[in-house]
Amino acid sequence: MATSTSILLLFLFSSVVTSLSLSLPLSTTSRWIVDDTGRRVKLACVNWASHMEPVLAEGLSKQPMDTIAKRIVSMGFNCVRFTWPLYLITNDSLAALTVRQSFKRLGLLESIAGIQANNPSIIDLPLIKAYQTVVSSLGENNVMVILDNHISKPGWCCSNLDDNGFFGDKYFNPDQWITGLTRMATLFNGVTNVVGMSLRNEPRGPKQNVNDWYKYMPKAAEAVHSANPNVLVILSGLSFDRDLSFIQNQPLKLTFSRKLVFEAHWYGFSDGQTTWVDDNPNQVCGRVATYMMRTAGYLVDQGYPLFIGEFGIDQSGANVNGNRYISCFLGVAAELDLDWALWTLAGSYYVRDGVVGLNEYYGVLDYNWCGARNSSFVQRISALQSPFRGPGLSEAKPHKVIFHPLTGLCITRKSLLHPLRLGPCTDAYPWSYLPEKNLVVKGTRFCLHTDASEKSVKLGILCSNSNSKWETISDSKMHLSAKLRDGKSVCLDVASDNTIITKECKCISKDKTCDPSSQWFKLVDSTRSSTRVGRSLLQSLHGKGLVG
Ligand SMILES: *[C@@H]1O[C@H](CO)[C@@H](O)[C@H](O)[C@H]1NC(C)=O
Ligand SMILES: *[C@@H]1O[C@H](CO)[C@@H](O)[C@H](O)[C@H]1NC(C)=O
Repeated sequence: MATSTSILLLFLFSSVVTSLSLSLPLSTTSRWIVDDTGRRVKLACVNWASHMEPVLAEGLSKQPMDTIAKRIVSMGFNCVRFTWPLYLITNDSLAALTVRQSFKRLGLLESIAGIQANNPSIIDLPLIKAYQTVVSSLGENNVMVILDNHISKPGWCCSNLDDNGFFGDKYFNPDQWITGLTRMATLFNGVTNVVGMSLRNEPRGPKQNVNDWYKYMPKAAEAVHSANPNVLVILSGLSFDRDLSFIQNQPLKLTFSRKLVFEAHWYGFSDGQTTWVDDNPNQVCGRVATYMMRTAGYLVDQGYPLFIGEFGIDQSGANVNGNRYISCFLGVAAELDLDWALWTLAGSYYVRDGVVGLNEYYGVLDYNWCGARNSSFVQRISALQSPFRGPGLSEAKPHKVIFHPLTGLCITRKSLLHPLRLGPCTDAYPWSYLPEKNLVVKGTRFCLHTDASEKSVKLGILCSNSNSKWETISDSKMHLSAKLRDGKSVCLDVASDNTIITKECKCISKDKTCDPSSQWFKLVDSTRSSTRVGRSLLQSLHGKGLVG
């Protein structure tokens, strides 16, 4: 079972895996993170927790770390946001505890046996050495690492009242924090796969304020940069990383350049536990995406890279609020082509909130860390794992691809004889979206049109009628709608065999019970090279003398 899943994943993602090549360190140029040659590197990370009570990377009682690193790669990630608690580096007696001692004091004897079996080389290492060993193992597998200071006192994070939230809290002394960051930056100076440091996760709580943010964040950024000039310095906003709006009014002054990245988080519960089920999903998506653009997304237009350090859902599909949010999120993340880190890798925790072996439904790995918990979820995020555009990547002229967040697929087709359908975004058809509202296959005169509801859409050269003029309607702006000859509006949708059809536009507004996401598409700017499918289309059109 596990083996067949892994093989399937390897097959699905082999193209991504083979294209990994790192030319480090990373730096920034306007809103992009680039490698040493100036070519864009898109951070497609997964969070790996090592900040909980045992202070060891989760899962090492279940699988060897090298196996986990290879699974991370086979699922298409190129990077890990690796969490650590401040006290690992500021409390010498904690740092010196061996892995065995750390688990023993917590009574986690079964985990000790598991670690002994799967990762015997670390069982008697001090916790800080064990952390370094995991970073090395990721490096051996070409996985980049962002060291994320997740909390001070080891344990599950985060709440407003956990006293780890903001400068001056019981467990958050700013001077101690800067000392810890400096030590960590120094410790990993020269470790090439450590490409960034996220200085503090989710600032929050009753003490949070903009003045203290400006007082301590630049100071910490300077300290980290002096200790380790190679790493990207990643800064989080207020209110659980939801608010970076203040940067607009007061730009950050730093002595160094080309290393600063901002971080934001975005979950389905970020705007309230039931936001997405209490209202029409198009209206919520429009509202929440606008809020995100105002508080964080605007930064890319101001020339700063923005890293979504956490997003994710319950991958069992049981949480409707999360299911609705993720389609909206994936649309925005594709459109802005953001760097990101999925929460989370862990299939289960040694212990969380007092529960030994807690199953993590947000985990991309299954309970035993053997394979993907939900391969359709991995499929959905795979389109976002490689860059759509950015410096050094212009293999094709700028065009649009039509992305379908519900499946993670794009509009393409096998050949001219086949109908348009969803397929891997690596095979996406290149489109132009003209001012006349035509969706034209790039480099041709062929535009998309619909003849009837519930029928396949087609390509043709009569592009002036309403049935080939596509408007982005609804608050989410993700419905693509045209009018049939009888004047009736229809929307792009997907049939059960994945062919692209039109249907009556659904759930446009008001109704909160229905789910529009099969009709949600996003026009995404891309310079990804056109595929074999695209080239063969162009060749056959040239053959017929139809290319304008
Ligand atoms: C340091 O760590 C040890 C071991 O976990 C703990 O007993 C002690 O309370 C910690 N000290 C501080 C100041 O947090
Ligand atoms: C995977 O996710 C889909 C979509 O949410 C859901 O329908 C399905 O039941 C999930 N599969 C598993 C194995 O959890």
